[in-house]
Amino acid sequence: MTRYALKVNGQSRTVDVDDDTPLLYVLRNDLGLHGPKYGCGLGQCGACTVHIEGQAARSCITPIGTVGWRAVTTLEGLGSSARPAKIQQAFIDKQALQCGYCCNGMIMTSAALLANKPKPTEEEVKAALAGNLRRCGTYQRICDAVLHAAQD
Ligand code: FES
Repeated sequence: MTRYALKVNGQSRTVDVDDDTPLLYVLRNDLGLHGPKYGCGLGQCGACTVHIEGQAARSCITPIGTVGWRAVTTLEGLGSSARPAKIQQAFIDKQALQCGYCCNGMIMTSAALLANKPKPTEEEVKAALAGNLRRCGTYQRICDAVLHAAQD
């Protein structure tokens, strides 16, 4: 076990975990942040996506020992039920979810896209989300939600 000091959602947090523990496990099991989901555990589905220094990252394949003091943001760090972020509100407005399991990854990846490219085209949205898997029929509504969030 090693003690790690982390910066998560703007707060300093300390955990005692093995060096190869995935960031996803630390967030969910040690810090109680259940926005990031366990899907494949192999970096292939996107359900576990978080931001590390503003960039979308697959937390299931990110060993805690590689994170350091870089800022980690989870879905909880974007907004809350009472004060959702613009992209979260857009997903609600466009009803862009069915079971909701993929939504963490969709929203976190979309938020990173919009931070880097505030006015993406539909093709750019689809390309950004291509690595996020979903099994329902909300493909177009997800895309519509991202474009909706990009409006002034
Ligand atoms: Fe991390 Fe699938 S759970 S990419």
